[in-house]
Amino acid sequence: MFIIAKLQPTETSRLFLRELIENDLDDIYALKSNPEVVFYLTWGPSNKEQKLTSLKKQIAFQSEENRKIYVLAVGLKSTNKVIGNALLLIKDDDSETAEIGYFLHPDYWHTGYGKEVVEALLMIGFRTFELHRLFARCDVENAGSVNLLKKVGFRLEGHFLKDLKVKGDWRNNYLFALLKEEYSVRKHPKRA
Ligand SMILES: CC(C)(COP(=O)(O)OP(=O)(O)OC[C@H]1O[C@@H](n2cnc3c(N)ncnc32)[C@H](O)[C@@H]1OP(=O)(O)O)[C@@H](O)C(=O)NCCC(=O)NCCS
Repeated sequence: MFIIAKLQPTETSRLFLRELIENDLDDIYALKSNPEVVFYLTWGPSNKEQKLTSLKKQIAFQSEENRKIYVLAVGLKSTNKVIGNALLLIKDDDSETAEIGYFLHPDYWHTGYGKEVVEALLMIGFRTFELHRLFARCDVENAGSVNLLKKVGFRLEGHFLKDLKVKGDWRNNYLFALLKEEYSVRKHPKRA
């Protein structure tokens, strides 16, 4: 596993993923203040001041020694507009495991962008960091996220009952995971 200070930008067919900058504030505020985006998430909707504080904190992670938290801007290559966030949270050096997260503005849902973001996170996690395992948690009723994770090849590993309080309610969550070896077989089936 590699420790990487700043990630180089990554591209998919229609999107870019890059480190956050302060100029992203307006686009990210539009995202994180939207009740649909944060419906299944423990935080939000954020006001502009909260967003500025958290953006500054996330940018500060970029210069941390032994960095573990990567919050990336997801944008459209065609217009440069930032439409989402992608996250990679490295758990500890021994497990060589990271949790991934993602959210997109609802104006861009149902067009395959979610799949592009998660595919890019798989590339970053398995190829750039050479991690052993990636996992994601999501609310059992978050059909968009459940279907997205299944679609890109994640395996259901766990079903937790009322393990997370979201906006005052205890929610049930799935844990999905993917090992590097499963990813490699999927990418290069003939080599398996
Ligand atoms: C989860 C999220 C990123 C999905 O983004 P998206 O761009 O709509 O996803 P895609 O278009 O790539 O769709 C991926 C698959 O999931 C399916 N899907 C997407 N949204 C769906 C929904 N609401 N209900 C059922 N299936 C859905 C798609 O049909 C597609 O499957 P297909 O290829 O068989 O058609 C987006 O809904 C989002 O940002 N949600 C809010 C934040 C969030 O909940 N993040 C996850 C936290 S765990």
